[in-house]
Amino acid sequence: MKGVILAGGLGSRLRPMTLVTNKHLLPVYDRPMVYYPIQTLLNAAIDEILIVTGGEHAGDFLKLLKNGKHLGIRHLEYTYQEGEGGIADALKLAEDFADGEKICVVLGDNIIEKNIRQAAAEFYVQPSGARVLLKEVPDPQRFGVIEFEGAPGDSPVKRILEKPSDPPSNYAVTGIYFFDETVFEIAKQQKPSDRGELEITDVNNAYLERGELRYNLLDGWWTDAGTIESLHRASNLVAEAGANRVDGAVKFEIGA
Ligand code: DAU
Repeated sequence: MKGVILAGGLGSRLRPMTLVTNKHLLPVYDRPMVYYPIQTLLNAAIDEILIVTGGEHAGDFLKLLKNGKHLGIRHLEYTYQEGEGGIADALKLAEDFADGEKICVVLGDNIIEKNIRQAAAEFYVQPSGARVLLKEVPDPQRFGVIEFEGAPGDSPVKRILEKPSDPPSNYAVTGIYFFDETVFEIAKQQKPSDRGELEITDVNNAYLERGELRYNLLDGWWTDAGTIESLHRASNLVAEAGANRVDGAVKFEIGA
């Protein structure tokens, strides 16, 4: 399975910092934000990685990540998203890289305490479709939210709503997704939402309609880092978790 990190977008909610660098290069405690999704993939033994980025500071990723070998990445590629057409728009750029294989997609501003090995193992043996990771949160209206068929967290998914004002549950869809090779056909069929973006929630709902969306509950804490408040919270969570924050983590040469 290959890994895709989506690190495009303009980071407008983090201005003025994002006027001079890419959002995913901003520090979260002791390392740049993009190191965390890289670590999430490496901890699941996914070491062929594509970074989709964009904006004026895309070149800064090369200075930091180079060919990725010093971080334990076996093969690192980059591509460039024009504009800010949404998560599903950024994902379309990964089609050639995926080359018919299953992929694990991680949003560049998503940070987790533990690892995704269980979900990855289950997706390896899932014949087709998609798999999402869910987390119970106090503020579901900020995210994609699950409406369940029955008991929340313990029954099939009925549908996913993107940032609903009246959330049907507290279960957010985290920015970690597993997709089979049909994701690119699905993404190409999507139409922009009211906010003018191709939404990953529409892609997941398309799998749901085919009866091919599975889920796991994510263990440990999860946060995004795309607003001033969540960036601050992410730094605090990482600092409090200490050096051994990732379960059995691959140790990372952060100074390299
Ligand atoms: O964090 C999880 C949430 O991420 C999900 O629960 C939502 O369903 C999903 O829509 C998304 O919500 P956000 O509104 O928080 O996503 P945001 O626009 O902040 O983008 C998250 C990352 O996706 C960003 O750090 C980089 C990447 N991205 C985003 C856009 C809009 C791109 O690569 N290109 C883009 O055009």
